[in-house]
Amino acid sequence: MKILSVVGARPQFIKLAVLSHEIRKHFDEVVVHTGQHYDYEMSKIFFKNMRIPEPDYNLGVGSAERSKQIKKMIDGLCRIILKEKPSLVIVFGDTNSTLAGAMAASKSGIKIAHIESGMRSFNKSMPEEINRVETDRVSDILFCPTWTAVQNLKKERITKNVFKVGDVMIDSIKRNIGIAEKNSRILGKLKLNKKSYLLATVHRAGNTDIKENLSNIMGALLSIGEKIVFPVHPRTAKCLKLYNLDKKLKNSNIIVTKPLSYADTLILEKNAKKIITDSGGMQKEAYFFKVPCITLRDSTEWTETVNDGWNILAGANKAKIRYAVRNFNPKGKQSENYGNGNASRNIVNILKKFSL
Ligand code: UD1
Repeated sequence: MKILSVVGARPQFIKLAVLSHEIRKHFDEVVVHTGQHYDYEMSKIFFKNMRIPEPDYNLGVGSAERSKQIKKMIDGLCRIILKEKPSLVIVFGDTNSTLAGAMAASKSGIKIAHIESGMRSFNKSMPEEINRVETDRVSDILFCPTWTAVQNLKKERITKNVFKVGDVMIDSIKRNIGIAEKNSRILGKLKLNKKSYLLATVHRAGNTDIKENLSNIMGALLSIGEKIVFPVHPRTAKCLKLYNLDKKLKNSNIIVTKPLSYADTLILEKNAKKIITDSGGMQKEAYFFKVPCITLRDSTEWTETVNDGWNILAGANKAKIRYAVRNFNPKGKQSENYGNGNASRNIVNILKKFSL
């Protein structure tokens, strides 16, 4: 069986790294990078540091308005699918590259497997939510990280070939944390002691593209009086400049860095006092490391982290963020909601049973 895996954005490279490792033990794999992320720190660094096989194709679509970007990706992917004739297309998560991969496979009559299927934030103003729902609608094999995801699909009458396998991101943390601890020099480089700082990231369109939201978030971070490490996504960097917020960060409590490698990110997460983020992946990483997470969104698809008490939703509300930084101190234990690190093996074992 030949599998064609589609990736394009930063978190997908991490997911590909663990899954590809298992896939290649049993199947042929062709990797297509859509080019959605293209800066060195957003793309190449992951392939280099995580020893992910170089993509066989890079469509180089770059940034564009959402519908134009997706159309370009679908056109390029359809051409490659026609040439490679895979038995299965695998897509990951909820980005524009995910939806484009699913649409191209569906158009070409090729079966689709969706990794991280069934996640729902029920917030339709987020492009990711639309990407998730539409991708699940056309997928043939649906790999869910949690039982909540399985239930979400059931409510949408999707029950065929739905498998709860755990979360490949947990596989990835378990596989990489030891290596990161040996290799990462980030704490020394930023002159940080363990548990003496907060880690913050912001990149969601809803937080960056609305000036009031980004101003509120930065206002909260600047007034907290704690050391905060702030790796800045290129989208956020552009908006900070546009709204004249970048100047306020100079000589402040905020340590600004460029986007960091996966290893440095894991080390900063594990040793942070608290994490403040609008990333889905970081909410789970915080949960795994038992670091309290303050989520800069009003809803999350990773509901278990909130239900278990380790994640609090603060939106872009300055007062809520400030309150949570001071007073949110969860202590409870976590369950193995996201699996035990065997998701990629579970996925491949299931794929072996399909004759496509
Ligand atoms: C995308 C995903 C999001 C995921 C995130 C991970 C969608 C709709 N969103 O968001 O779910 O959490 O990736 O990082 O697919 N840019 C650069 N260089 C790059 C990449 C982006 O400068 O290498 C800038 C461009 O101005 C671009 C903007 O960032 O327009 C946004 O990039 P895009 O890929 O559209 O969305 P992300 O915010 O990265």
